[in-house]
Amino acid sequence: MKDFQSKTALITGAASGLGLEFAKLGARMGMHLLLVDINEHALKAANDELESIVQASSLGGSSNHFVVDVSDPVAMAVLSQQIVAEHSTPNLIMNNAGIVGGGLIWEHTAQDWERVLKVNVWGVINGVTLFTPLMLAAAERDPKWRGHIVNTASMAGLLTPPNMGIYNVSKHAVVALTETLYQDLRLVSSQVGASVLCPYFVPTAINQSFEDSKDTSTRSQIISKQMLDKAVGSGKVSAQDVAKRVFEAVAANQFYIFSHPQALGNVQKRMQSILDNTQPPDPFALRPEIGEDLRNALKN
Ligand SMILES: NC(=O)c1ccc[n+]([C@@H]2O[C@H](COP(=O)([O-])OP(=O)(O)OC[C@H]3O[C@@H](n4cnc5c(N)ncnc54)[C@H](O)[C@@H]3O)[C@@H](O)[C@H]2O)c1
Repeated sequence: MKDFQSKTALITGAASGLGLEFAKLGARMGMHLLLVDINEHALKAANDELESIVQASSLGGSSNHFVVDVSDPVAMAVLSQQIVAEHSTPNLIMNNAGIVGGGLIWEHTAQDWERVLKVNVWGVINGVTLFTPLMLAAAERDPKWRGHIVNTASMAGLLTPPNMGIYNVSKHAVVALTETLYQDLRLVSSQVGASVLCPYFVPTAINQSFEDSKDTSTRSQIISKQMLDKAVGSGKVSAQDVAKRVFEAVAANQFYIFSHPQALGNVQKRMQSILDNTQPPDPFALRPEIGEDLRNALKN
């Protein structure tokens, strides 16, 4: 997908953070935006802001919003039918909605696992299974039609940071799902592409999602939340920077999208330990003080 003007983009988690910045950039390029989020109030505010951007850009775009829980397959199926009936098949699908969960891996309750996996993994599964066939059908009807699917994973989908197991598992699933999506698409079409976005720490409201639906937390979970607050809050790459990288990557049909390519040394160390059959290395090997702080916090 080389150009974005007049193309339709469906963005989940569009009311905040990365999703909102994807939408703003799309609006400035004259895209037709279909914004999806579970937070009705924030989504309405985002849509109002995006309508102003669309009007100011005078490129003929539009903005519509849909309050939907991405983890609910029935609600997502209804959404896909509504989009088919009232809009055109999205050229760009951004399965981006996500939440966090952390703490020692044996301390998560079944509800904790369900809460995070439903949004982070099932949300992407629902988006991919419902919209890929629609995109392939649009591609079949018109040889000039182009589409692209971007799934938001995380660097936690390529590393295994301690005290973040539930999130790591969910994001490794998104990386595996998207790599397989890429391979499967290559079997049937060259008109629909796929990318996986792996951000490191970017200042957004993601740390707020930690406690939103949790009444009681263990000590390790409180520490995980505190460390996440600090890491996300001090992130130097903005959500706006990430949005720019994502659209450039889609235009270049680039599969892996990194917000912090300088952190890839940690991934290299992990991959090398697999090849060498050695123990998993410190996922923060480039900043060992992070692991040290965590060990101390858990001891005290
Ligand atoms: N910010 C970071 O440091 C960072 C790092 C790595 C990965 N990510 C990933 O980026 C994605 C976007 O997160 P963000 O940082 O912009 O956070 P954010 O909290 O600012 O935005 C996430 C949005 O998703 C929405 N959402 C949550 N559950 C939903 C559901 N069930 N259905 C529909 N919408 C739902 C929220 O209401 C919110 O508007 C997530 O998948 C997150 O895991 C973020």
